[in-house]
Amino acid sequence: MYWITGGWGGLGRIFALHLAKNYNATVILSGRNDSAERKKQEAEWQSAGLHIYSIAADVSVRAEVESAYSRIRRQFGEFDGVLHNAGVIEDRYLAQKTPDEVHRSLRQRPTALCGWMRSSETRRSIG
Ligand SMILES: NC(=O)c1ccc[n+]([C@@H]2O[C@H](COP(=O)([O-])OP(=O)(O)OC[C@H]3O[C@@H](n4cnc5c(N)ncnc54)[C@H](OP(=O)(O)O)[C@@H]3O)[C@@H](O)[C@H]2O)c1
Repeated sequence: MYWITGGWGGLGRIFALHLAKNYNATVILSGRNDSAERKKQEAEWQSAGLHIYSIAADVSVRAEVESAYSRIRRQFGEFDGVLHNAGVIEDRYLAQKTPDEVHRSLRQRPTALCGWMRSSETRRSIG
């Protein structure tokens, strides 16, 4: 079972479909929201026999990461991997960005997710 943060983005969907179609993997996609459109797509994938599920979790908020982790573990069991794809693409050199743009680009990086993954309990369960 794989958790893909930012899984509804361009790369996340490519990885999800690859893992689900070629390896029959269970894949959990997360983003900051869990819209009706995403639920509809999730249902279509599941009708096609793919084990792809959606949950909402903002990776810059530690409590949301911990809650998503517990929910995924309870519902789907052991992790085989986490793909950290959550990000905001603002393609400009750092020196040309405003402080707000820098903040938006970087807030998903050394985030709650990383702190949480460094914790010993998580290292034991994810491997
Ligand atoms: N595409 C490329 O060629 C390329 C090359 C090098 C590096 N990258 C990096 O790879 C990552 C994924 O690329 P992509 O093309 O798939 O980008 P994308 O289509 O913009 O997808 C990124 C996803 O991240 C989610 N996201 C943003 N902030 C989040 C947060 N705080 N918590 C949870 N989810 C969050 C967004 O979903 P929500 O709006 O639902 O939150 C979005 O669907 C990016 O970080 C990008 O910088 C991409």
